[in-house]
Amino acid sequence: MEKGKYRAVILLFIVGYFFITVFNILPPKTNWVSPKPKPALPPLLTSQQSITPLPNTKHFLVSSFMDRRVEGFDIRIIGIFRRDSIHPLHCIFFCAGFYSETTSASVLLHSDHYGFPFGATDVLCRIPENCDATHVTLLTQPSPVNVSDHLWLPIRNKKTPSKENRLNFTVCISNLYGDYNNVLQFAQTLEMYKLLGVNRVVIYNTSCGPELDRLLKIYSQEGFVEMVQWPIDKYLNPSRGWRVRVHKGDLQYFGQIVTLNECIYRSMERSRYVLLNDIDEIIMPYKHDNLNVLMDSLQPLHSNVAEFLIESHIFPKKYFEPSGRFHLPQWSNVPGINILEHIYREDPDRKKFLHYKMIVQPKLVQQTSVHEVLKKYGKRYKVPWDLCRFIHVHVARRTSLKLEELNEDKRLWDFQEKLIPNVDKALERAGLLATED
Ligand SMILES: *[C@@H]1O[C@H](CO)[C@@H](O)[C@H](O)[C@H]1NC(C)=O
Ligand SMILES: *[C@@H]1O[C@H](CO)[C@@H](O)[C@H](O)[C@H]1NC(C)=O
Ligand SMILES: *[C@@H]1O[C@H](CO)[C@@H](O)[C@H](O)[C@H]1NC(C)=O
Repeated sequence: MEKGKYRAVILLFIVGYFFITVFNILPPKTNWVSPKPKPALPPLLTSQQSITPLPNTKHFLVSSFMDRRVEGFDIRIIGIFRRDSIHPLHCIFFCAGFYSETTSASVLLHSDHYGFPFGATDVLCRIPENCDATHVTLLTQPSPVNVSDHLWLPIRNKKTPSKENRLNFTVCISNLYGDYNNVLQFAQTLEMYKLLGVNRVVIYNTSCGPELDRLLKIYSQEGFVEMVQWPIDKYLNPSRGWRVRVHKGDLQYFGQIVTLNECIYRSMERSRYVLLNDIDEIIMPYKHDNLNVLMDSLQPLHSNVAEFLIESHIFPKKYFEPSGRFHLPQWSNVPGINILEHIYREDPDRKKFLHYKMIVQPKLVQQTSVHEVLKKYGKRYKVPWDLCRFIHVHVARRTSLKLEELNEDKRLWDFQEKLIPNVDKALERAGLLATED
């Protein structure tokens, strides 16, 4: 009897042990012991700004993103580097509680620097094993000395947003500077974008005029506009153009190339398409009601297209539509151009230079320039201009053309019934609409 009992007990133990190990039915081991006080975390200063000077170098870091599309790398840091001062760099990570060892960085200067001393630069990094990286920075030597002097960049795009939070179209406006105060055109353009299916407009702001500031604050409160503060003039002498001899400075056009690339990566996980154009350009489908229908019709015919090139056509702002039908009294005190009054379109000089802007699929793009994508994984497709083009109300480009040689184009008027009240509402919210007393 005694022996049998012993055997039964031992058997029970063995069977119990078997079940516990095989089916893992006990709570995780860490819960067994009473919690020990956690060791103090190393100091970590996270950068709160969009331009972060990199200690011991002449360079600046902008943002870092998860990007596993290039073999052997996990992270892409977008930066502004001084081109004549490129030295080896080392990536270091903050791994949810400790600093990682360093890995060597691969520094890729963008080719479209236009000869300026500083240029857009990508730095590719590999995350070492056993590191759940949340932040990254760069060091000038492989050993982690003075790490606490560094401002760390949070690593973005670690998660894909849920389906409900996905956007179809994001417009990137590369730079706002000076006392730009073209409020009416801005409000009309943003409302046109909404009617066409754009979900988000990202704007990089160095400075702007007082009324435009009010309008943009209203739009960003409601979430349609995402303002990224871009105080590039605090760090560099940004050029106002792209010709280094004419428009002197450190960096092409307020860092336009940098912000366009940043915007593509910022939008990569959350937006199906990204539009790269200026605020005075409205993308306009001529045979479809909005961008969703247009792209749904193009995409199946042109699979694997990273870059859709769209022609930009000038509507000279010096010619007005004669009836004055849209010269509305409530807009009389709003500064800026009224796009509904400009209906004469220049045909571009096809023998010379066609101005293109792009719709891209951000996941297929590595590096972009202003008028074309530089490095991509897919193909390029030129969208026929009778299907879709940019309406660009601007100073005349082909100054020799007479009014009779321009084409009447009232496509914007097709939207006026919704557009005008929507613009009024936006201006009213910003306190900019003239009220009748
Ligand atoms: C580390 O910081 C100290 C004091 O700020 C400085 O003297 C030293 O040069 C720094 N070392 C490196 C490698 O940057
Ligand atoms: C995106 O487009 C689809 C149709 O193509 C539409 O059903 C969906 O609501 C749109 N999403 C947003 C956020 O606009
Ligand atoms: C744009 O930047 C200027 C200069 O920093 C600032 O005064 C203004 O409030 C900003 N406007 C918006 C809408 O972010």
